[in-house]
Amino acid sequence: MIEIKNIVKTAGEKVILDDISLTIESGSFVVLIGPSGCGKTTTLKLLNKLIEPTSGEIYIDGKPISKEDPIKLRRNIGYVIQNIGLFPHLTIKENIELIPKLKGDKSEEEISETTERLVKMVGLDPDEFLYKYPTELSGGQQQRIGVIRAIATDADIILMDEPFSALDPITRTQLQEWLYELQQELKKTIIFVTHDMDEALKLADKICIMQGGKIQQYDTAENLLKHPANSFVKDFIGSDRLWSAPEYIKAKDIMIKEPVKAIETRTVIQAMEIMRTNKVDSILVTDKNNLLVGILTIKELRRNGIQDYYIYKVMNKDPLFIYEDCNLIEILNIMNNQNVGHIPVVSRDGQLVGLITRSSLLSVLSEQFLEMEVSILG
Ligand SMILES: Nc1ncnc2c1ncn2[C@@H]1O[C@H](COP(=O)(O)OP(=O)(O)OP(=O)(O)O)[C@@H](O)[C@H]1O
Ligand SMILES: [Mg+2]
Repeated sequence: MIEIKNIVKTAGEKVILDDISLTIESGSFVVLIGPSGCGKTTTLKLLNKLIEPTSGEIYIDGKPISKEDPIKLRRNIGYVIQNIGLFPHLTIKENIELIPKLKGDKSEEEISETTERLVKMVGLDPDEFLYKYPTELSGGQQQRIGVIRAIATDADIILMDEPFSALDPITRTQLQEWLYELQQELKKTIIFVTHDMDEALKLADKICIMQGGKIQQYDTAENLLKHPANSFVKDFIGSDRLWSAPEYIKAKDIMIKEPVKAIETRTVIQAMEIMRTNKVDSILVTDKNNLLVGILTIKELRRNGIQDYYIYKVMNKDPLFIYEDCNLIEILNIMNNQNVGHIPVVSRDGQLVGLITRSSLLSVLSEQFLEMEVSILG
């Protein structure tokens, strides 16, 4: 775990970082994002002691890094610097193996094997590339090598400063996919700087939005989208962002929160009266603890007659439902595949919490499109 505690960094009169505190769990992928000059690169440089803070302390696994030897520390932290930073006079192989060899805890053979494996992993042919010099590679190929070099150090922590910024969109997307998979597999702690919110949303477990040397919000993508801490964060993310990421829209955000319902021990006549006064053609049935136990529809009653006295005797005891954390795409799929007009929403412990109907869904969606149009026109 990395704990950044009350870090202040000044340069003369200028405050570069203004009391930054941040905790990064081991094995998580954290993205630092914010306008140019907000202090992202400075934060990375503090982490591997390329610079010292004016005040505050950084702890790695509980140990203050101010007491660590910077060279030793850096050998255990991979660093992909802004603008690649491969050594031009070294071959690709030499670039990648520089730190592993300095460390001296592995044989030449082991190091060589790792290099080949990593180069293959980023889709490059070792025979073709290992003995070339950086200038003989395209920008995208060089960036891949930069990332590999950071990983080859065997470091648990990898700092990446805009590693994909100079790439065309296709290569960039490929490398994002690759890095995401790599992270899933190796579970490194990655701190990744970018200017690109799409990139942040794609990769991060948590996103740290910075501005003017301060952290504006440090949160999961979902919380940033739904609960921006202030107007800077909101504008920075973009107001229509949530709707371009439908997987972040959950059933609980769009459901009707007070669906028409009845307890199972009511009579059928009472249930029909409730439906009639609420102008609905079905009613959700719960037990006395508000657990969803069934659904009663007018259609069923008409078909079977109204002989039975209590709801629980005639209701459909196996109602279709969705969980409140289902996302919009899943909801639309279920409603279309099952061809239902409405679907109850339950919490993970089975409590009835809401209802989604086709028309509630439509009105939420169209409201949003209206809002987007207004914001485009305005
Ligand atoms: N050694 C220094 N002396 C004085 N000011 C500095 C120094 N290093 C950085 N700064 C200033 O500190 C601020 C933060 O710089 P930093 O490089 O951390 O920004 P950044 O968020 O990485 O920006 P970018 O997105 O452009 O890379 C900037 O205003 C920069 O000019
Ligand atoms: Mg920078």
